[in-house]
Amino acid sequence: MARVISIVCQKGGVGKTSSSVNLGVGLARHSKKVLLIDADSQGSLSLSLGFTDTKRLTDTIASIMSKIISESPVDPAKGILKHTEGVYVLPANNDLAAMEMFLVNVYGRESIMREYINLISPEYDYIKAISLVSRSFKVHLYNRLLFVYHLFSLYIVYQ
Ligand SMILES: Nc1ncnc2c1ncn2[C@@H]1O[C@H](COP(=O)(O)OP(=O)(O)OP(=O)(O)O)[C@@H](O)[C@H]1O
Ligand SMILES: [Mg+2]
Repeated sequence: MARVISIVCQKGGVGKTSSSVNLGVGLARHSKKVLLIDADSQGSLSLSLGFTDTKRLTDTIASIMSKIISESPVDPAKGILKHTEGVYVLPANNDLAAMEMFLVNVYGRESIMREYINLISPEYDYIKAISLVSRSFKVHLYNRLLFVYHLFSLYIVYQ
């Protein structure tokens, strides 16, 4: 089972994406299999690793969440991209912004990501999720924290 780390901070521009990428690549260099989950609808993590065409991607964190909500079968490996630095990435794009709105009316919305993590966890040593936490919309944060076992507390470091 993978060790799960989440990097969250309410404040923007404090280094969440950079820290996540650097920690991920560092762990990969120590022969760890790392999945980086881009949970930011701006797709910053995907973009920073050079996956620039995220708009065209149909298999993203949003499509996986959609399948879990509709109780459709989920292929946990689908949509995961491999980077030359040795890390794996589940990308995000603007579809996640629409999903965030949709989640408002979804029962059990806070445990959707945990379900996905449980599916994919045996495949990895580390899973890292990164997100911007909207001040007005906290469901996404709850979704993260429920699957987090290790919260990387940028909040404390940068406040
Ligand atoms: N340790 C660091 N030292 C100096 N600059 C840094 C460091 N980490 C990140 N930066 C720079 O700070 C800026 C913001 O970093 P980053 O995009 O990782 O923050 P973020 O918290 O993910 O932002 P957002 O809230 O927009 O997603 C970038 O220009 C990045 O290059
Ligand atoms: Mg970011």
